[in-house]
This record gives sequence, structure tokens and C-alpha cells, in this order.
Amino acid sequence: PSAHLTVDPNSAVGAIQRRLFGGFVEHLGRHVYDGIYEPGHPSADADGFRTDVIELVKELGVSTIRYPGGNFVSGFRWEDSVGPVAERPRRLDLAWHSTETNEVGLHEFSSWLEKVGSDLMMAVNLGTRGTLEALDLLEYSNVPAGSALAQRRIDNGRTEPFGVQVWCLGNEMDGPWQLGHRNADDYGKLAARTAKGMRQLDPSIELVVCGSSGASMPTFGEWERVVLTHAYDDVDMISCHAYYQEHDGDLDSFLASAVDMDGFIEKVVATADHVKAVRGSDKQINISFDEWNVWYLDRYENVDKVEGIGNWPIAPRLLEDVYSVVDAVVFGNLMISLLKHSDRVASASLAQLVNVIAPIMTEPGGPAWRQTTFFPFAITSRLAQGEALQLKLDVPTHDTKRYGAVPLVDAVATHDAEDGSSAVFLVNRSSTESIDVTVDVSALGDVQVRESHTLNDDDVYAKNTLDAPTRVAPRPNETARVSDGTLTVTLPPVSWTALALS
Ligand code: AHR
Repeated sequence: PSAHLTVDPNSAVGAIQRRLFGGFVEHLGRHVYDGIYEPGHPSADADGFRTDVIELVKELGVSTIRYPGGNFVSGFRWEDSVGPVAERPRRLDLAWHSTETNEVGLHEFSSWLEKVGSDLMMAVNLGTRGTLEALDLLEYSNVPAGSALAQRRIDNGRTEPFGVQVWCLGNEMDGPWQLGHRNADDYGKLAARTAKGMRQLDPSIELVVCGSSGASMPTFGEWERVVLTHAYDDVDMISCHAYYQEHDGDLDSFLASAVDMDGFIEKVVATADHVKAVRGSDKQINISFDEWNVWYLDRYENVDKVEGIGNWPIAPRLLEDVYSVVDAVVFGNLMISLLKHSDRVASASLAQLVNVIAPIMTEPGGPAWRQTTFFPFAITSRLAQGEALQLKLDVPTHDTKRYGAVPLVDAVATHDAEDGSSAVFLVNRSSTESIDVTVDVSALGDVQVRESHTLNDDDVYAKNTLDAPTRVAPRPNETARVSDGTLTVTLPPVSWTALALS
């Protein structure tokens, strides 16, 4: 089969926010302990952080990092995580049935962020706590000096405020599994009054209200409408969370997962704009897609789950999915979906970063390595600069069980007016056929292919593991060339491709 795409200079979607390439670190499993922090590891620095992991996080190119949860945050008392480490309490984390030692807290995590060059995006606990505790944490974090909590931060060794810019008002409050779960009406009121208070304290912050934990939640759509009806004037973004996996060997539907993400984003935008219309507001609410990934959730439910009143392990192996080539292709397509919606998706966080459904894996005392999903993230984060351009697609379709007829090729282009560079990101969703693609790139000027990367493999389930950490990696795509304003490239079956043009 063949496909023809056109870059239309009038098809700019919007400026690509660096925050689109955010990550997420939750106190969950071996993410923090034995992941980013392992004082006894040969590569650990003086603060106990693994420098091999720091180097990989830098290579990944992660902008903001959401912290400290996730479900964890709904039982979290932030005060436990500051002050002298020896005096910090051990707490039971009900979300993941683990013991939280609080060895790594706000100060330690912030110093790790400085090492990796990323910004903090903080979530407050609106599950088991409320407005007052959120205000306390904001005061501790952002007030320079002169108040009790600012002074406590200074006494704890941090003179300058943390200056946290983006705050999440709880986590997945629509989910019955969430500690302190509420209905949309109750949560919307709580979020609105917490947001008002937080802005009274620091008007410069940006606030994310909880949207749905997934488009298949029974309350999806109505949750967004009700929550935004309460909190529209007080927040800047509404969150989306989505995880995808292959179900029952249905590879074609799995490869089309981005179709679902496209629809999810467009429905949340429609709902936010409906509330805007009803309120007669001029303000636009954007999306923080602050959890997205491939996640084989069934494995957690059926294999890993920790239980027992006397069994609260520290840093157990949880959610340690090992990703295949096909997972990485779907993942690359999810990034294309985010870019295609960069007019309204102002922020996104890959969930998560190390060991826990993560692009980076580690062994205690041993190596750190890149999962297959590392590559599409790192390459897209580096090459997608400037504006996203919607491509006109003339592409064959095929039928899938979950999503009906879907295009076999999905793609987006980016263009940086400052340095004239461009990039095209493409996926081939066919599990059997190579596709010859032509792209009319004449609108991008006189360009040539500067870099090409294709991720595919004869074994679409090939993975990188402790024993074979470099089994899968992208390779240059020798078929990619530009001639007379037309880019030609052959996309192998089940593949993700990035082409840099200049
Ligand atoms: O990322 C893993 C979990 O997924 C998060 O803790 C939660 O917010 C979501 O359900």
C-alpha cells in the first residue's frame, strides 16, 4: 500500500509547549527507592541519587515532572517528608499497600530535579486532606520568608522558595479506588474553594483540576461538565489520564490506540468549551494530559498486588512492565496525538519515569537501561520544536474491532520558524504490510533529510531486558529522501519513524 500526506502551511495547530514532554514520579514500588535513589549503588552521588539514572533522564528530555502521586498523594501528609530525615515517620501507603519511609521528600526530590534539569509540578492531597493543608504546602514551597511555614523551610535548609508553578488539585478524584473519592459535585466545590485560596496566597500559580481517569469511566463527560461548572474561573487546565494495552491478542486495535486518545482530547475540549459558552466566559481551559502510557493493568491486578495487614513492604516490585516494539510504536503514536492537539494540550506527563511503567529500568546494585518506549519519547522531545502542523492524510484504512475503520498511517509535522528546522513523525499501524509514503513538504522550503529514525523489528514483541538491555533500538531509515519538494519514505509494518528536515 501507499499513502500520500501534505504539509499545508496554513495548518498550524499551535505552539508546542515544552511542558508537553513532562514526566511523572510517584512514590510507588521501586520508582523513588531503588530507582532514582539508591545510596549504596556504585554510581550514587553524595545525596544518594544514581547518576546513571540522572544521565538517562537528561537524555530522555523531560520538562516538568509531576510529583509525588498519583494515587499515593491521596493519603500523603507532606509534613512527614520534610525536616531531619532520621525524625521522619514511616507511614503506610494505602494506595500501593507499601511502607513509605519518607527518606526522600520535597527537599531531596527538588535537589534531584535540579540535577536532571526539570521543573516540579506538585499535586496536593484532596483525598484525605483539604484546603488548609494545600495552603500550608503552598506557603512552605513558594513564600520567600517571613511566615511560620516559610521559616520552617528555611530552617530545613532551603533559603530560596521552591517556586512551584503548576499545581494539581488532587488525583483521579472520579475513581472509586481513590482514597477520599468524591462525586463530581463535591469534588468540584472542594477544588474551587481550594483553588481560590491557593490563588489568594500566590496568584502566579497555574492550577489543574481533576478530569476523568479515563474516557471509559462511567461518569466521563458529565464529570468534566460538573467539575468545571464549579471551578471554571479558578483553574487553568483540566486533566486527562489514559493507559492502553493489547487485549486478547487484538494487535490491530492496540495499534490504533491513538484514535481513542484523539477522541478523548476532543471530547474534553468540547465539554470545557460548552461550560465556557454557558458561562459566557472569555477564558479558555486547556488540557493537562498528566498521565499517559501503555500499561498492562491486568498484570498489577492479577500478579503483583500486595495484600495483608502485616505485609507493608518498602519499595516492592510493582507495575514493572517490560515494553516491546509494538508498545513503543503505540507510545510514539500517542505522542503524535498529543502534538496534533497542541492547541489545547498545554501540558502532559508520561506516567511514569523509572521502573514503574517506565522508559528507564534499574537493578539494585546493577545497571540502568532504556526500555523500547525510551526512544520515541527522547527523539520526539528533541525534534518536535516550534509549532505543530496538521498533515492532510490520503491514507488507506483497515477495520479494527475496537475502533472500526482507522487510517493505517498516522502522522504529524512540526516546524520551528526560528531556525527553519522541521520534523515529521509517522506510524505504520499495519501488522503485515510495508507502506510507501510520500509527503508534500514543499511548504517547508528547500529541505533535506537531516536525521531519520525508525523503530521496528521482525519480532514485534522484542524487548530490552536486564540480560539484553540493547536488543531493541531505532535505526536510520535509509529509504527517506526529499526530491523536488516531495519526501518519500517506506514504513515497515508496526513501525514508528521520526524524520528531521532542514
Ligand atoms: O500511574 C499509576 C497510577 O495510575 C497512578 O497512581 C494513578 O493516578 C493512576 O490510576
